[in-house]
Amino acid sequence: TEPLRLGIAGLGTVGIGVVKIVRRHAALLEARTGRPVVITAVSARDASKDRGVSLGDYAWETDPVALAKRDDVDVFVELMGGHEGPAKLATEAALAAGKDVVTANKALLAIHGQELAETAEAAGRVIRFEAAVAGGIPVIKSLTEGLAGNEITRVMGVMNGTCNYILTRMEATGQGYNVLFDECAELGYLEADPNLDVGGIDAGHKLALLASIAFGTKPAFDNVTLEGIQRIELDDIRHAADMGYRIKLLGVAQRSARGLEQRMTPCLVPANSPLGQLEGGTNMVVIEGDSIEQVVLRGPGAGEGPTASAVLGDICDLARGLRIATFGQPAATLDDAPAARTGLP
Ligand code: NAP
Ligand code: HSE
Repeated sequence: TEPLRLGIAGLGTVGIGVVKIVRRHAALLEARTGRPVVITAVSARDASKDRGVSLGDYAWETDPVALAKRDDVDVFVELMGGHEGPAKLATEAALAAGKDVVTANKALLAIHGQELAETAEAAGRVIRFEAAVAGGIPVIKSLTEGLAGNEITRVMGVMNGTCNYILTRMEATGQGYNVLFDECAELGYLEADPNLDVGGIDAGHKLALLASIAFGTKPAFDNVTLEGIQRIELDDIRHAADMGYRIKLLGVAQRSARGLEQRMTPCLVPANSPLGQLEGGTNMVVIEGDSIEQVVLRGPGAGEGPTASAVLGDICDLARGLRIATFGQPAATLDDAPAARTGLP
């Protein structure tokens, strides 16, 4: 059987996680997909960096665009990050060269998703991005496959582990926001630009993607009402607790009279609800539909293993020939224009 050949751009936390799983589970992946899944080429900035795994079996490209165009690559796996520059250029190059793309890059897709989906559609290729929303929780697959028979009425959730860690530690320790922000910096939890986390932007990117999938609209990050957790004080947390509530950075996307409403803001949630019982860096996504009422998904939203697990889920689908559209599930009694379908054959 023909192998599925991967080119991986980005060998940081997630990229190395993917390399490790492809090696550790070579036999399992082949058994599950019916063909070998192999890495042929990789790319990162620094070729001399020790990444804790041997990369000598793979061709090395310093330029991710060159990697994306290689003849021995079937699927371009973009794990560099950033919504401009190499991630976008290499993704476009891969699609133009006839490759499917798997990415964990929520910023790229929340901002340029529609444009990239149209490029993919025109090229007859797909972009898959399970890892971009809630890390290891298979939430996109749940919406596009398992819950495909539902009209989705609302999606909501806690989608930034760092913010949930800070808020739950404020409750547990009585330490203020600034102390716990510094703790997160020391623990390496913060994004290179911490405002992406604490300003709610990272979670807002994820919500925009989830909403577009749930409601069949263009991903519209600019329409997300955003407020971060920087102004939450211990008194807010204490008063909430007195009334039986906890404060969560909660994303909500639902239909309203004005179209699709998307909010990522600190909210009071009942302490005895599933969302109210969420601790630490864990993520939770709640999906409501006309037939299911409510489904609650909970799990690790970040880190090497969980995020790489989601990337492999997409890769396995492509290896099996399951090229299911992500953006653009038919919806839309909404005013928002339907999205492109990312190349559903
Ligand atoms: P990371 O550890 O910072 O790794 C980024 C990698 O990209 C590095 O190997 C870096 O090369 C490479 N890179 C950056 N710019 C490049 C360029 N111009 N050319 C070639 N390579 C370049 O990032 P990460 O945490 O793995 O995140 C990767 C993606 O996954 C991001 O989109 C992120 O938002 C997403 N994500 C991450 C997590 C998580 O828990 N980490 C969870 C969900 C989604 P060098 O190593 O040589 O510097
Ligand atoms: N900074 C993100 C978080 C990483 O804390 O959830 C995963 O997207």
